Amino acid sequence: MTKKISIIGAGKVGSTTAHILALKGLAEDIVLINRTEGIAKGIALDIMESMPVEGRNVKVYGSSNYSLISGSDIVVITAGAQRKEGMSREDLLKINSNIVTEISNEIKKYAPESIIIIVTNPLDAMAYLVKKVTGFERNRVIGMAGVLDSSRLRSFMAEELKADVNDINALVLGSHGDSMVAAVSHTTFNGAPISKMIGNERLGKLIARTKDAGAEIIKLEGSSAFYAPASSVVSMIDSILNDKMKMMPCSVYVEGEYGLKDIFIGLPVALGKNGAAIAEQLSLDESEKEELILSSEKISKSIKELDI
Ligand code: LAC
Repeated sequence: MTKKISIIGAGKVGSTTAHILALKGLAEDIVLINRTEGIAKGIALDIMESMPVEGRNVKVYGSSNYSLISGSDIVVITAGAQRKEGMSREDLLKINSNIVTEISNEIKKYAPESIIIIVTNPLDAMAYLVKKVTGFERNRVIGMAGVLDSSRLRSFMAEELKADVNDINALVLGSHGDSMVAAVSHTTFNGAPISKMIGNERLGKLIARTKDAGAEIIKLEGSSAFYAPASSVVSMIDSILNDKMKMMPCSVYVEGEYGLKDIFIGLPVALGKNGAAIAEQLSLDESEKEELILSSEKISKSIKELDI
């Protein structure tokens, strides 16, 4: 069956996601929606015109009209204001909650069967808002953050150890914010605990760099990261569309798991054709559990400010 992915927001994350999806041929139809229609149409055309060179029969459409998203298997929300230097992801709450509410209503109307992946910040609060507005079951509303944060940590550890990135596993949970939780007890090099390879102090520095990695890029480049966020979204889409049930850390709605309730927070989930299923409870050590609770408190505060 033809697979269709729609991406809301044709900024750098949205357009790069569309490009990687098209290069990989993961979906036959890709729709890019943007308020300024010319941007969506132009990027869509540009990507489509590269498809003969890439040998892929992917169709890419751009529009400002949400009716084009109907029949989508997955809708990715990337639209919203971006962080500027010195801003936290939480500073975007007010502006982006209006935008995300509007988008959620359109998805509910035109793609009521879809699975939604949210990228807009502040991530965990925006995912909560999407679930509230659409009324979708929790398995169909998934925030992208942990895949990105874990990939960042893996890349720093690979650099440190001069190792193959494939030999390193990392698990970053909690909020996609300053209180993210690097679950060191589940971070390994060739299956061995990472603490055997990297000393505590050095590891602490790599984790601190991971927490600050989004801001590090904004400082250097003047705008937010997009290659690693887009790759992360695409890996989630691949697992969902192909029902791979890969385990990835994603922001999901909790109903008592890990002792947490009524928030979105990054936890290990299996991603397949029905969306996200929270994986068996992982054993975390005491300090990780404490950090996760602290992180959940920050998210709750951010959700309260949504005032919904
Ligand atoms: C970042 C954005 C996607 O972490 O939040 O770069």
